[in-house]
Order: sequence, then structure tokens, then C-alpha cells
Amino acid sequence: MKGGSFVSKLHTMIDRLNQIEREALAGLDAMRSSADLQNWKVSHLGRSAPLAQILDELRELPKDQRPAVGRRANEVKAGLEHAFAAREEALRREELDRSLSEQRLDVTLPGRRPNRGRIHPANRTVREIVHIWAEMGFQVYRSREVETDDYNFGLLNMPRHHPAREMLDTFYTTDPEVLLRTHTSPGQIRVMRERAPEPIRVVLPGMCFRYEQITARSDIQFNQVEGLAVGHHITLGDLKGTLSAFARRFFGQQVRSRFRASYFPFTEPSAEMDIECFVCGGIGCPVCKRTGWLEVLGSGMVHPTVLENGGYDPELFSGFAFGMGTERITMLKHGIEDIRSFWANDLRFLAQF
Ligand code: PHE
Repeated sequence: MKGGSFVSKLHTMIDRLNQIEREALAGLDAMRSSADLQNWKVSHLGRSAPLAQILDELRELPKDQRPAVGRRANEVKAGLEHAFAAREEALRREELDRSLSEQRLDVTLPGRRPNRGRIHPANRTVREIVHIWAEMGFQVYRSREVETDDYNFGLLNMPRHHPAREMLDTFYTTDPEVLLRTHTSPGQIRVMRERAPEPIRVVLPGMCFRYEQITARSDIQFNQVEGLAVGHHITLGDLKGTLSAFARRFFGQQVRSRFRASYFPFTEPSAEMDIECFVCGGIGCPVCKRTGWLEVLGSGMVHPTVLENGGYDPELFSGFAFGMGTERITMLKHGIEDIRSFWANDLRFLAQF
């Protein structure tokens, strides 16, 4: 009865294949996501799936019966693979349709206008000023913000304990010889030492720092534009003429300027330049504090000691220098009342420029 038992084994295996096919196909329709689908593939077409087991058992069948079971097994396998691919494709479409209908996109809606950046009002003024000086033949020289005590004070004729240092409360680093520059004037020495004995015409724009109470009128950091001219026959007349020309270019052709005697340790004589108040035209108003004049810069003839420290013989050379606070000038020009607005990064302020 050996043959009979093989016949029935053959039928049992065919039956099992049919059942495997039926169950697998029935299960496939229930798969709703690609993750489900992958699980289905592993359990029905994977290496330990019932189908794979049957293919293993083929070896135990007599040779003449193997083709029948083998053919059916391959049929089932191909059928399942085909059904899997079809279901996968259907699911992909379903998911695409769903995402398209859920995330509706109206391409006719107008786009959002990007916010355009712009030049900060403080930098704009610096650029305008530097531009005017450049047209008058002054080169731009960038000097350092971190300076030594010597460059910021000593070489500018302010030795230790000089009373003028009191006016400039200073940010020091952990090294008492190294500080944040309180003005752009140390740049004068750096340019002179680099250029001597050539004539000089430069402007030095940049940030300065003072360890002070912050108020509406003074901040601990601010920009200055320094200017320096050194040559053989430079006079106070050159200083006045050049700075007056600058004032007309920057504030307007009709604006008058005047020079008031002043004091700086590194210039002699020293003068501050005022311009006629452009708010009231010189009659007197709150902006000019009823004086009719606005103070815009400090200046003077370079002190002989400073020329010498820069490497120029004061018997053969002379020069003039000036320094202006550019936030202050911007405030005057645009009627800005609080200097703290410059670094507060409030877009409502910045967007006005
Ligand atoms: N350094 C001076 C200040 O900060 C300005 C100045 C520069 C004056 C050059 C004279 C010459 O106030």
C-alpha cells in the first residue's frame, strides 16, 4: 500500500496548497497600510511561510509525483506575488489620493512677500560719510576695536593719571594693558606708523566702547568716523575748509557751520564744529536746545607729540584730525530721540529707514 499512501500525500499537499492560496488571498484584502502589507509578504511569501515549507517537503515525494505538486506550488507562489504587487499598487494610489485630497493646495493664492533686509541706519550713515570723504581723496582704513592702553591713551598724549582719562570710562580686558577702544583716535597712530614718512589722508570708521551709564543720549557702544591728514603744509585753514565742505555735502549746501575752541590732549589747537540747526534753521528749538546750533564733531591740528609718536618730524610735518559720533549725527538727521533704539533690534524702528 506504499503507492496509495503517496497518492494520498500528493492530494493532501495539493489541498494544503489550495488552502494556503485561499487564506493568503483572503488576508491580503484586509491589509490597509504598507506596513501591514510587508508583514503579509513575510508571513505568506517569506522563507518560513507555509508555502516555503511545502516546497521543502517536495523532496520527500517520489520523483514522478514531484512535478504535479511543484507546478501547483509555483502557480500559487506566482499568484500570490502577483496579487501582492497589485495590492501594493492599489494601496499606493489610495495613499496618494488621500494625501492629495487632505492637503489641498491652491496654487492660485498669492505668495507671501519675503521680508527684505536692509542696511542698518547706523551703518548707512557711516557709509554715507565715508563715501563723501572718499570722494575728497581720503582712503578708508580699518583699525582694531581691541587696543592697548598705549595706543588708546599714552601715544595720544594721555599718559597715566592724565585727567582726560577720567572722561573716558574704559572697558578693560583681564589684562589691564588691553582694552576696548574708547574712540577711533588710536587708529591715527597705527596709520602713521604704517605710512611714515608718506603724506596721509584717511578716514577710520568703526565701533567704540565706553563704560558708562546707558541713557537716551549715551550708549556703551557707538560708531565714530575718525579722519586724519598729514603732510608738509597742512594748516588750520585746511581743517576748516575741508570740514565745512564735508558739512555742506552731508547736511545740505545751505547749512552753515562754525568752529568753537575746545580741548583734546592729542590736538593743538582743538575745535568743535557745530552746524546750524536744520530743524529750526537757527532760530532755536528743542532739538538744538534753543541755541540754533548742533555740535557734530571734535577736531584739531595734530599735536606735535602725537606726530612724533607716529614717526613724523613735527618740524617738517603738520596735520589735522577729526572724529564724529555717527549715531549722534543720525539722530540729528532723522529726529531719533533715544540712542538705545540703534541696538534694540526692534524692527518697527529699523524698518523706517
Ligand atoms: N577722539 C575724540 C573723541 O572721541 C574726537 C577727536 C578726534 C577730536 C580727533 C580731535 C581729533 O571725542
